[in-house]
Amino acid sequence: MMVWRVMKLLLWALFILYLACFANGFTPQDMYLIDCGSSSDTKVDDRTYLSDKSAAKYLSTPQDILGTTSSNSITSSEDAQLYKTARIFTGTSSYKFSISKSGRVWIRLYFFPFIYNNFNMNSASFSVSTQKNVLLGNFTPKDPTMKEFLVNVTSGELVITFAPSSASFAYVNALEVVSAPDSLITDDAVTFNPSGTFHGLVNYTLETVARVNMGGPLVTLKNDTLWRTWVNDGSFLVSPSFAVTNKSLIGSVKYPGGYATEDIAPPTVYGTCTKMNSSGDPNSKFNVTWQFNVELGFQYMVRLHFCDIVSDAADEIFFNVFINSFNVAPDFGPTVKVGLADAFYMDYVTPLANNNTVYVSIGPSTVSASPDAFLNGLEIMKLNNSLGSLSAAVSEPPPFRQGSKKNVGMIVGLSIGVPLALLVALIVFLMRRRKKQVRLGHTKTWIPISINGTASHTMGSKYSNGTTISTASNWSYRIPFAAVLEATNDFDESWVIGIGGFGKVYKGVLNDGTKVAVKRGNPRSQQGLSEFRTEIEMLSQFRHRHLVSLIGYCDEKNEMILIYEYMENGTVKSHLYGTDLPSLSWKQRLEICIGAARGLHYLHTGSTKAIIHRDVKSANILLDENFLAKVADFGLSKSGPEVDQTHVSTAVKGSFGYLDPEYFRRQQLTEKSDVYSFGVVLLEVLCARPVIDPSLPREMVNLAEWAMKWQKKGQLEQIIDPNLVGKIRPDSLRKYGETAEKCLADFGVDRPTMGDVLWNLEYALQLQEAVIQNDPEENSTNAIGELSPQVNNFHHADYTPSAAEMSHVDDLSGVSMSRVFSQLVKSEGR
Ligand SMILES: *[C@@H]1O[C@H](CO)[C@@H](O)[C@H](O)[C@H]1NC(C)=O
Ligand SMILES: *[C@@H]1O[C@H](CO)[C@@H](O)[C@H](O)[C@H]1NC(C)=O
Ligand SMILES: *[C@@H]1O[C@H](CO)[C@@H](O)[C@H](O)[C@H]1NC(C)=O
Ligand SMILES: *[C@@H]1O[C@H](CO)[C@@H](O)[C@H](O)[C@H]1NC(C)=O
Ligand SMILES: *[C@@H]1O[C@H](CO)[C@@H](O)[C@H](O)[C@H]1NC(C)=O
Ligand SMILES: *[C@@H]1O[C@H](CO)[C@@H](O)[C@H](O)[C@H]1NC(C)=O
Ligand SMILES: *[C@@H]1O[C@H](CO)[C@@H](O)[C@H](O)[C@H]1NC(C)=O
Ligand SMILES: *[C@@H]1O[C@H](CO)[C@@H](O)[C@H](O)[C@H]1NC(C)=O
Repeated sequence: MMVWRVMKLLLWALFILYLACFANGFTPQDMYLIDCGSSSDTKVDDRTYLSDKSAAKYLSTPQDILGTTSSNSITSSEDAQLYKTARIFTGTSSYKFSISKSGRVWIRLYFFPFIYNNFNMNSASFSVSTQKNVLLGNFTPKDPTMKEFLVNVTSGELVITFAPSSASFAYVNALEVVSAPDSLITDDAVTFNPSGTFHGLVNYTLETVARVNMGGPLVTLKNDTLWRTWVNDGSFLVSPSFAVTNKSLIGSVKYPGGYATEDIAPPTVYGTCTKMNSSGDPNSKFNVTWQFNVELGFQYMVRLHFCDIVSDAADEIFFNVFINSFNVAPDFGPTVKVGLADAFYMDYVTPLANNNTVYVSIGPSTVSASPDAFLNGLEIMKLNNSLGSLSAAVSEPPPFRQGSKKNVGMIVGLSIGVPLALLVALIVFLMRRRKKQVRLGHTKTWIPISINGTASHTMGSKYSNGTTISTASNWSYRIPFAAVLEATNDFDESWVIGIGGFGKVYKGVLNDGTKVAVKRGNPRSQQGLSEFRTEIEMLSQFRHRHLVSLIGYCDEKNEMILIYEYMENGTVKSHLYGTDLPSLSWKQRLEICIGAARGLHYLHTGSTKAIIHRDVKSANILLDENFLAKVADFGLSKSGPEVDQTHVSTAVKGSFGYLDPEYFRRQQLTEKSDVYSFGVVLLEVLCARPVIDPSLPREMVNLAEWAMKWQKKGQLEQIIDPNLVGKIRPDSLRKYGETAEKCLADFGVDRPTMGDVLWNLEYALQLQEAVIQNDPEENSTNAIGELSPQVNNFHHADYTPSAAEMSHVDDLSGVSMSRVFSQLVKSEGR
């Protein structure tokens, strides 16, 4: 009680001090500051971090281990003191704080690896989570590090759990939980690719990736109303000589109502900037670019801070702002929005990162009288993924029961009191589970792929519950590394036929003369490893005329090598644009689309569990010597759910431009996401242009949007591949356009199945060949998904054969199609 009172007093004293310093500043309702492992309170810039002992009441841990270091390597910063001691956790431990006001709260964690007795913190590995989110997964801090998160606490309490990775331990040097203004993160931000609005930011947990003061000094906690740190941008500049730092005008910064406040960023940030080094040269044509490292597979909020301290009233500046290669603010004039020296900011949310780098660039606009551009500040925040995690390595918080944070004594007390019956039940349950596992082991042949000599358990939980790579028992696809070397002429660089995210693809010849394609993964990529396994798993289970077949794999010497049948004619994409290969005829294109649709249809329906490809694009559809289309690249595939038939929730992956916007919005994966991507492929095949082409005028950049605009006007023919002009029968094109349009419906439920798509493409082909004698006007109203029951039944009987029959379907389809059409004609005659 006494301690609480003293603390309260202390807090009040702090508030008052704080208020005196920053009259406009924000007053946190909740504030917990702990200098973990420390025997006494620690003061940093007027804030007092409680000693470990005073903070013990927030903590439950199996064991008290406090470490100290005498290392002087961290004396430079103001908060150096905090790094000198640490608390070490050998078992899962939690801090629990009550939060009086729901809303945004900063969590700041300080780490400094040092050696204390037997604990070499350089090798510690652990996860940190709240009740809802994983903040850090299998994390090993390097150097003194502060990790900052912004969480939305709605439950009245915040539990921060430290969980050591197996055979390791966790630690933390200091910890802060402080209320933040709710207005800091608004609900909406701008998105690009697809362009639109990102809603629901309030529900995300964010991690600070970068906070940068362009052209200005390091801003430390003292000079920021929310105790943030802003670093100078110099080290992020790609070409420092392209940039200059304008004089600072910190005193002139104004905060007009309705835009930025001092809590958004302090005057020191707005009052300085980095601008284009265009002095004197009216022909300057270059971007000033900053680069930041990010983790693949996450979305990032990018906040740009502007304050025009560069131009004068007479001569306004316009410029372009790019995030990666997207022009997110074309011909942007900051002073059109606000006045000179007025502070404001803009928020963007990036697509899922498919590259480890985010680039932010500013560059000249032709609208401006003279080339110039500037930026005052920049923040990049990582958003939690659909699993609630900020780490790709660990997706779920450790099992946590609401209210289970109690001290150890209580847990022990409780478990002794557990009724005997429960114990018996538990034992029975465990025994049954063991039996089940044994049975499984007998029915399947497990192929544990070893990486670095460790068994397959390194793959983590994803594969541990029954989905470990398992194949039909006579699996003989493992190919010795020596044979691969021989086949590829020692990975001859001149034999490279493709480069993908996974690695390089080489042409090869096995010693029996079989031509193969050899895909060699980067051995160090953990991402690649899971894709490698998925691909083997998928391709060994699913064999179909329209799926590229796997000939073998090699996992010797940490290699991840996949060997496929060789596809003589490469990707569909290469026959559409960007090469000088001869143009394909409309009939050829339809046949290719039909083949690919068959492959996908088989994936979706060929087994009890639907398989979702997740990366359907023209570069993943390959052509053999007869231009027979086969779907390739199953690295991202996911099997659909057995229990929940509606969706799988998973991190959004796939290729930009092809990504289902619904999947993007809701992060729910269904077969209909493949249907969407396939719709984009259909347009690409028709128009023979890239799905995203930023070099085109804005409304044309995104092929799907652009083509749908014309399709809705009924004038799709206006934008087709010039090589096809006059060669497509209008009915065929209309059917094709309608099919693509249906595939691109906003909502998955409105999209056809792959079976329907296949059916409609066959129909478009028939219309082109003019097999149907009837008035096609009639038929065209028979939109996808609206087939008569008869036809529907028929079609399902025809296109949903059992897996065993699957391989014969193609050969029969020529026959069956004519039956489909006669059926259709009949049903329409009514
Ligand atoms: C945020 O989540 C709540 C429930 O958790 C939900 O009701 C609300 O619609 C979400 N807000 C947005 C903008 O998505
Ligand atoms: C926190 O989340 C709730 C929904 O879960 C939302 O209604 C509220 O606006 C959020 N608060 C902030 C400050 O983001
Ligand atoms: C920090 O704030 C103090 C006044 O509070 C000011 O004198 C000092 O110049 C500021 N430093 C920076 C880097 O902005
Ligand atoms: C700006 O560019 C000029 C050449 O155009 C170069 O001489 C100068 O060093 C650059 N300034 C900076 C700060 O890099
Ligand atoms: C800074 O901006 C002023 C205009 O406010 C301009 O005259 C000056 O040349 C700029 N300095 C640099 C280094 O670009
Ligand atoms: C600036 O960068 C964008 C995106 O990378 C690029 O499209 C543009 O051509 C660049 N502008 C100049 C002038 O280099
Ligand atoms: C990331 O993007 C940069 C620039 O666009 C490119 O040079 C680099 O190869 C990309 N890296 C990967 C892994 O795709
Ligand atoms: C982020 O995590 C929250 C839990 O805090 C979860 O409700 C939300 O769905 C996650 N965001 C996304 C996009 O899935």
